[in-house]
Amino acid sequence: QSVAILGAPFSKGQKRRGVEHGPKAIRDAGLVERLSNLDYPVHDFGDLSFPHLEKDEHFTHVPFPRSVGSANQLLSTAVNGAVRAGHTCVMLGGDHSLAIGSVKGHSQQCPDLCLIWVDAHADVNTPQTSPSGNLHGQSVAFLLKELQDKMPDIPGFSWMKPCLSATDLVYIGLRDVDPGEHDILKNLGIQYFTMRDIDRMGIQRVMEVALDHLLARKQRPIHLSFDIDAFDPSLAPATGTPVNGGLTYREGIYIAEEIHNTGLLSVMDLVEVNPVLGASRKAVEATAGLAVDVIASSLGQSREGANMAYQEIP
Ligand code: ARG
Ligand code: MN
Ligand code: MN
Ligand code: MN
Repeated sequence: QSVAILGAPFSKGQKRRGVEHGPKAIRDAGLVERLSNLDYPVHDFGDLSFPHLEKDEHFTHVPFPRSVGSANQLLSTAVNGAVRAGHTCVMLGGDHSLAIGSVKGHSQQCPDLCLIWVDAHADVNTPQTSPSGNLHGQSVAFLLKELQDKMPDIPGFSWMKPCLSATDLVYIGLRDVDPGEHDILKNLGIQYFTMRDIDRMGIQRVMEVALDHLLARKQRPIHLSFDIDAFDPSLAPATGTPVNGGLTYREGIYIAEEIHNTGLLSVMDLVEVNPVLGASRKAVEATAGLAVDVIASSLGQSREGANMAYQEIP
């Protein structure tokens, strides 16, 4: 099995500048070198180039709809191709609106995929429930079949049809959920684990229940969509919508390790690293380094070390 890295330098799912430099920050933190210590070939396909649209008027209070729509269409084609070619795909964001195209492209190759969304936020607003209008807070609403009739025809998204059911999705790390989102989570019976649930159950039990919910009936490909703001802002300060009380380093790494241990990880997103928002170079490097740690752990880097695979021992 080989790994494909796809950079997606895109920021128009929200209004703050800088998150388009996330892929560079994560690469500069040593991503490719770290993955080369694992036991499969790594192909860095570089950054996608997204077309700049001159005219892209708001749709109600939603900014940049056509830019977000066309970027995601392009990304979906790229992820589809990488998975078809047999790679485990790592998408570096960019803001979290990119999960629309990433999951969609993945689902075209793997229609029975399940989605693990690690985030402080549920990102399941519809344009109608969204307080900000930002599309990075609405990605999951585009993906869910149950919300299709709640989604208006947004310019730029005519290509996009939902591909997941509410039972195919689990959230981990939630602690900032808008009122309309809470209604959706409850009405659709979506499985979610808030930070409070992690406090009560411990991360080990949370992962057991989460993976059992998704995989007990049958083994299927996993899409991991990891928003760096799931971590506590003391660990990941360089991000656009930080929320206090997030994952510890060990909880985040444990999530990644457990997903690796299923052997089913097929595509992962690492999004919302914004190097412009770090208070210092150290803050940016800490955030990007954490992103590298999560990716490496998801792909099999282990805290117990690894075998030297015999031949290297004289
Ligand atoms: N719930 C808020 C909104 O809809 C914040 C979303 C933050 N999303 C993210 N991917 N960081 O605007
Ligand atoms: Mn978030
Ligand atoms: Mn998010
Ligand atoms: Mn392994």
